[in-house]
This record gives sequence, C-alpha cells and structure tokens, in this order.
Amino acid sequence: MPLSKIIAIANQKGGVGKTTTAINLSSALGILEQKVLLIDADPQANATSGIGILTKNEAYSIVNLFEGDIKTQLCVLDTHSPNLKIIPGSIKLAEIEINIKHQNLNQLKTALETVKNEFDFIIIDCSPSLGYLTLNSFVAADSIIIPVQCEFYALDGLRRLLSTIKRVKKSFNSNLTIEGILMTMYDNRLSHNSHVINELKTHFKDLILKTIIKRNVSLSEAPSFGTSVFNYKINCEGATNYLNLSQEIMNKKTSIKQSSLGKKIPQILKETEDGISIKCSIKDENLETVKTFSLEDKNYYKLIGCSKNKVISQLGLVYNYLHSDVWMYRISYKTRLFRKNFLYIYFNKNKVDHIKLRRFKFS
Ligand SMILES: Nc1ncnc2c1ncn2[C@@H]1O[C@H](COP(=O)(O)OP(=O)(O)OP(=O)(O)O)[C@@H](O)[C@H]1O
Ligand SMILES: [Mg+2]
Repeated sequence: MPLSKIIAIANQKGGVGKTTTAINLSSALGILEQKVLLIDADPQANATSGIGILTKNEAYSIVNLFEGDIKTQLCVLDTHSPNLKIIPGSIKLAEIEINIKHQNLNQLKTALETVKNEFDFIIIDCSPSLGYLTLNSFVAADSIIIPVQCEFYALDGLRRLLSTIKRVKKSFNSNLTIEGILMTMYDNRLSHNSHVINELKTHFKDLILKTIIKRNVSLSEAPSFGTSVFNYKINCEGATNYLNLSQEIMNKKTSIKQSSLGKKIPQILKETEDGISIKCSIKDENLETVKTFSLEDKNYYKLIGCSKNKVISQLGLVYNYLHSDVWMYRISYKTRLFRKNFLYIYFNKNKVDHIKLRRFKFS
C-alpha cells in the first residue's frame, strides 16, 4: 500500500501556472509509474477540462466531497493519462465557497482519508484565492508548491500566502511544509527573468525548487486539446521541465527529512516585511546547469539494461524523443577541457543496450 503525499499547488495570485503545474506534474508522476490523484479544487475547473473531462457529463465532483453526501471513491474518475485519476472540479464549488454555514476546514481532509492510501501522490489544484476551499486544501495537504512567475511582481502577495500557511500549520495541520517555490514561465531571452530568479534565490534559498519551468508554447496549447503536454508534444522542453520537476518531487519524498517550515517561516516573513526589491543590477545568471545533467561520478555503465523509465528517472528526458532508440545527454564538467562531452545511450527493445561517450569541439 503506497504511503501517499498530498501536495497543494497554491498562490492566490492569478495566472502564475498553478493549473499548468497541477496537470503536468501529476501526469509526469504517472508516467514515472507513481499512482496519482489530481484534485481540482478551483470553481474554474480548468484542471478538469485541461485533462479532457467534461464536467457537465459527470454525475459526481469535488462538490460532493464538500457536501459529504456520497463515498469519496465514487468521485474518483479515470483519465487518459497513465496512472492518473482525477476528482473533477465544478462551477458549483463557487457556491460552497460563499455558503459559510457549512464551513468546516477539515472537510476535504476527512473525505480523502478513505482513498489516500491508494495513491503515491495526491495533487490539489487550488483557486486563486485564500478562501475556504484553499484553506481546506492546506489542512488536507502534507506540503505546498508555490508557483511564482518569473517577473517583477513575483513577490506580490507572497507574504500573505506564507503567513496564511503559518496560521494553518499552527492551528490545524502541524505537519504542513512548503515543498518549494516553483519558478514558472521563465524566458531566457528576457534578462529581467534571470534577475528575478537570482533575487528569489537570495531571499528564499533552498525553498526554491531546482527545476525551473520555461515559457513554452506547447504547455499553453495542450489544455485546449484536453490533454497534458505529454500526450500533445512529448519532446518539447515543457515536457522535459515537468518530468524533471516530478523527479525532484519524488526524490524529496524519499529523502529522510524535509527542512522545517516552522523554523524558516518567521525569517522569511521578516525578509518580506519591507518588500523585497528586485534589482536590475545583477548580472545574468548562467543557467547552463538547468539544462544539463552532471554525471560526474562517471558510472554511466550502470545504466546498461535499464528501461527507458529508469533512465528518465535518473537523468530526465531532456531534449530526447521518447520513442527514439538513441538518446543524448550533455555532461557538464567544471574543467574547460571536457566541457563538450556527450553521453549517447543506445536502446534495444526499450532497454539500454550500450553507451558511448563522445567529445565535440564547437567553434
Ligand atoms: N510554462 C508556461 N509556458 C507558456 N504558457 C504557460 C506556462 N505556464 C502557464 N502558461 C499559460 O499561462 C496561463 C495561466 O496559466 P495557469 O492557468 O496554469 O495559471 P493559474 O495560476 O492556474 O491561473 P488561475 O489563477 O486563473 O487558476 C495559461 O494560459 C497557461 O496556458
Ligand atoms: Mg488555475
């Protein structure tokens, strides 16, 4: 029986990539053979339509969980994505949000008790507000991913969000942690994007997730086809970014202990008190490491015989085509001499057959 981890994706700022992250992170985790439940806790129900479910065709939705009138299992639907199920959202959630007489912050947590051990991960897409529905998600969650768009107003509202998380942790859910702040819609053509990243890294340090989600047109196109980016354009950079994110989240789940939100949050709140200004004077960050993989321990040969999924879980997919039988990874060494090393992985019947190292000279 899997030990489930419940992650809420939240930021009361609108349009920062919450739903895009909820859909593609949960699909990527499913591709990496995790059992995943996506919960659409936003009355806009964008995650539901984005994964190809028409709410008007569905008898049950998350609304039933808040009304407590049926078994949770009945609200869990299949999707076309491997290992991914969904509890769909509904426009009727908006009524629940304003109907204060029924408000119970433990409602979602209680409803999930009966299904949560069927899943490795439960991902909750929150609405752009800090109202009743989002608070319910925070009470049910083990951790929170905060997507932040790489732009100058990135920190707007972050202080309020962090102070709300602190209050929920104190009064309702002492286990709650911050999974990480996720940089979204990064565009390397815009120099201010890397300035924003540098500033956030300075202030939030290891709360920033290593994976950065780049701006990628396929990520914005896929929902109109009712699918994650993996069924739309598996080889695009957006797909690679979300596979890397899911690997990072899986690694965190298995790591021994997450850093304590309780210790960090007073310091973070203090730092954000006067408003952190995003300075333009910082030099462009070298983001090379973001798109390369360090294989410095040189134990590539251990990959021989591994499945494609295993290779993805070790190295990410980067720019490779899932169905190709030759994959290539750039190896980053600190020394100049070996800077342009590439690792070629040759598959036979979806298993690594042999491996070659090649060195190229670029003019
Ligand atoms: N990495 C990306 N590259 C390109 N477009 C993106 C990316 N991430 C999100 N978008 C687009 O930005 C818009 C807002 O994204 P999304 O709906 O995920 O944000 P949200 O935080 O869920 O919004 P809301 O607050 O309304 O729920 C959408 O049109 C989406 O397709
Ligand atoms: Mg959304």
